Amino acid sequence: MSAHCLRARSLLNCPRYLRRRWAAGSEYHLSPVNLHTCRALSCTSVTRNLSNPPDTPEDHDRIQAKLPLKSILRNARRFRDFDMESRVYAITGGGRGLGLAMGEALIEAGAKVYALDRLESPHPDFLKVKEKAEKEYDSAIEYIRIDVRDNPQVHNTFAAIAAQEKRLDGLIAAAGINHLQPALDHSQQALNDVLSINYTGVFNSATAAARQMFNYHTKGSILLVASMSGLIANKGMTSPVYNSSKAAVVQLARSLAMEWGRYGVRVNSLCPGHIITPMVEDVFRKNPEARAIWEAENMLGRLAMPEEFRGAAMFCLSDASSFMTGSTLVIDGGHTAW
Ligand SMILES: NC(=O)c1ccc[n+]([C@@H]2O[C@H](COP(=O)([O-])OP(=O)(O)OC[C@H]3O[C@@H](n4cnc5c(N)ncnc54)[C@H](O)[C@@H]3O)[C@@H](O)[C@H]2O)c1
Repeated sequence: MSAHCLRARSLLNCPRYLRRRWAAGSEYHLSPVNLHTCRALSCTSVTRNLSNPPDTPEDHDRIQAKLPLKSILRNARRFRDFDMESRVYAITGGGRGLGLAMGEALIEAGAKVYALDRLESPHPDFLKVKEKAEKEYDSAIEYIRIDVRDNPQVHNTFAAIAAQEKRLDGLIAAAGINHLQPALDHSQQALNDVLSINYTGVFNSATAAARQMFNYHTKGSILLVASMSGLIANKGMTSPVYNSSKAAVVQLARSLAMEWGRYGVRVNSLCPGHIITPMVEDVFRKNPEARAIWEAENMLGRLAMPEEFRGAAMFCLSDASSFMTGSTLVIDGGHTAW
């Protein structure tokens, strides 16, 4: 038996064991027989115990790997509150990174997704998500190129989507940029770029989405992607304008929630910790020592993967969060909690 299977705690971290457990249904509890089964699987997964250093994001159990195959689900209609069948969502910044990962989750829950981004063509991962949507989920993800700073373009795009679908159920406003530079050296150009995308672009997108929700009488949910950097001065990341732009997004969510709540439109903000996305990989290329500092600053001792925000997207955009508005959801591996 591999060393990690000797303790129940370790067995629960074994992806092979978890897949087997899902396949067998809820009766498959921990027992000596199961430990024996794990031995039979000849499991070679890496041992995790409390004396080992924390896993790197590359080798920790990926959420995707833990998901049960559709073919072995006994009841595909579980958790109806999270069901997004026939719903239509827009995601700005959905061409890659966090926005795309969240979009994939909505598709799996039954929704049609419009990814709105300024990239000339979306990241190669987008095509994989599109293929999966069509082949496995009988759903769709469409790509539309827009710049969230362009207010008329944003409003026209949302109007066209709603006219096509006769509804709009939600928005994830994830388009954003970062800029690392000390305040005294900060260029005016970079200041304008960050604020016009991270704040004005989010404002444009949220108002364009709400307008269509009112037009088509859909009760909608809007999630504004802020950052834990909107709550704290982020050690190892000198980005005063980015940080304050994200604080403004947190406050915008509360203000819009107050205006639109009585009309059935909910608005919340999400404050993620550090996630390995193209944006962050770019920071590491310019500033390689940032990674170790960031990893040391949270309680899990690692950075997040975009997939770790799938659950948050499904919760915030579905009826599961029907009484939540004006809230700030912090998912940061404990970074802001100590
Ligand atoms: N990666 C992190 O550690 C992290 C942490 C907290 C918050 N966030 C926030 O999450 C969101 C997504 O970031 P990401 O890490 O996936 O970065 P990313 O760079 O991979 O994705 C951001 C996307 O936004 C798009 N975008 C930028 N400007 C745009 C514009 N003017 N119009 C339309 N699209 C535009 C980009 O083309 C890109 O596809 C951002 O708002 C970011 O600030 C990221």
